[in-house]
Amino acid sequence: MKKLFIYYSLTGSGDVVADYLSDKGYDIRKVISKHKYPKNFGLLMFSGGFRAGINIKDKLIDFNNDISNYDEIVIGSPIWFDRVSPPINTVLEKLDLSGKKVSFIFYSGGGEANKASERVKDIGDIIILKEPKKYKDELKKLEVFMEKKCSCKKTCKCGCQEGKKCTCKDCKCGCHEGKKCTCKDK
Ligand SMILES: Cc1cc2nc3c(=O)[nH]c(=O)nc-3n(C[C@H](O)[C@H](O)[C@H](O)COP(=O)(O)O)c2cc1C
Repeated sequence: MKKLFIYYSLTGSGDVVADYLSDKGYDIRKVISKHKYPKNFGLLMFSGGFRAGINIKDKLIDFNNDISNYDEIVIGSPIWFDRVSPPINTVLEKLDLSGKKVSFIFYSGGGEANKASERVKDIGDIIILKEPKKYKDELKKLEVFMEKKCSCKKTCKCGCQEGKKCTCKDCKCGCHEGKKCTCKDK
């Protein structure tokens, strides 16, 4: 099963996640924005927050939207103004995620991502990490999240439907009750 982590990072937290997932066998694709974000913290907060707030889709440099070789797609974004970052708005627009096992890794300053989560909750499972560049223990949370994801391919007996909440009591597929079942074949 081929797995891809596609992500954006401006200040390095996403890169820490990418290093971790690369070690776990994920291919890595980092997107680069054409927009020049200011180095000055205040200006960055203002312009980045504003662009995220109105859902701007940044133009990306050499963006490759071919994910046909992958079964599993993990999308990583920093949280800006409680939302998905502008480069990842573009990724969400350009990728055809149908039929893929999808999850989201958000990294934020406070460990919250309410508006971003609300937006993607029907597309895939979500984990929110607090500044993994600074707090390395956050990767332990990520490990648990990745392990608990349903990994069945063709042998799922649970009868729950892909993309729906798993309601089985005695789930054999590895995804757990109350979480979304992401298995492809049953
Ligand atoms: C423009 C901007 C807006 C941000 N807005 C939020 C926010 O609303 N909530 C939050 O918890 N962190 C916010 N942050 C902090 C980032 O989400 C956090 O530092 C994240 O780990 C950065 O990821 P990166 O280092 O991969 O770019 C913001 C950072 C920037 C630059």
